[in-house]
Amino acid sequence: MRYILGLVGAVFSVVLLISFFSNVSTYWSSPPPKTAEEEFHLHPKHLSLASDGPLGKFDKQQLQRGFQVYKEVCSACHSLSQVAFHNLEGLGYTEAEIKAIANQWPTEVPSVNPETGEPATRKALPSDRFPAPYANDTAARAANNNALPPDLSLMTKARHGGAAYVYSLLTGYRNQPAELLKEFPAAKTPQGLHYNPYFANLNLAMPPPLTSEGQVVYAPGNPKPTVDQMAKDVAAFLVWTAEPNLPNRHATGIAVAVFLLFATVLARLAFLNIRNQKKATLVRETGVLEPENQAKSKRAKRKAGIDG
Ligand code: HEC
Repeated sequence: MRYILGLVGAVFSVVLLISFFSNVSTYWSSPPPKTAEEEFHLHPKHLSLASDGPLGKFDKQQLQRGFQVYKEVCSACHSLSQVAFHNLEGLGYTEAEIKAIANQWPTEVPSVNPETGEPATRKALPSDRFPAPYANDTAARAANNNALPPDLSLMTKARHGGAAYVYSLLTGYRNQPAELLKEFPAAKTPQGLHYNPYFANLNLAMPPPLTSEGQVVYAPGNPKPTVDQMAKDVAAFLVWTAEPNLPNRHATGIAVAVFLLFATVLARLAFLNIRNQKKATLVRETGVLEPENQAKSKRAKRKAGIDG
């Protein structure tokens, strides 16, 4: 009986092995065809910002421009639920300016009429978070071809490539390449979507938000508001919304590194101090160290002429 069971097990294993190797060899000899996404998706373009690197600090002038782009363009569809108006202090706005920004925000904050108890809205206050442009996800989808414009507060943390991805996406719209259509006729951009090779599946529901130079008018003394510049500025702004304390984190990191270096030197000095004291005591108590106390290995002993 045992032999039969063993035989059945062996046959079973052999069949498994054969099927495994035959599948591997088929995969090797004729790999699955590439998809349009695999062939035409692009990695984010290079973007360098003042906040990059361990010594990076925010360029407040750029963050203010980026906020202006968010306010005048993106806020029509995207919420920024993690940021409150008073946080704009971090961009260098004064209290009075923040009050005015909140007061003039196009969407009001949901509230309750104190007299009737009915739902109502009121003007935003500096303590409010940025009001969402749509009442709820259903309304947001209804206005956007059934796609949901995501909240942008943490977007540069949520996507691979961060700010560079946002910048690339905003400047990456183009016509579908002819080679793509020739190779993948079925991958034609559907009605209502827009081709953008920086988006994972190549077609997204967001129409190009930044289309012409001067769409946002920057205050004098700022760079020209080209599409490229506006995209960079709003990407920099979204790095700030995702991590407003970035420069503090950098400063803490450097302080900790310096402290650890200092502590290492101290520890080494303390060790040398104790070792030298021990040595001095030993020499005092036993006279000069005997050679056999110094030569530890066999080879060292032979060299010092001591019998091992
Ligand atoms: C007309 C409405 C509209 C405007 C204006 C708009 N967006 Fe969008 N956005 C959308 C929609 C809808 C999506 C979802 C797209 C999808 O999932 O296909 C989206 C998606 C995104 C995404 C996420 C892409 C991803 O990887 O999932 C980012 C980032 C983004 N928008 C940034 C911006 C920025 C920055 C601005 C302002 C310059 C802006 N959007 C203006 C509607 C808009």
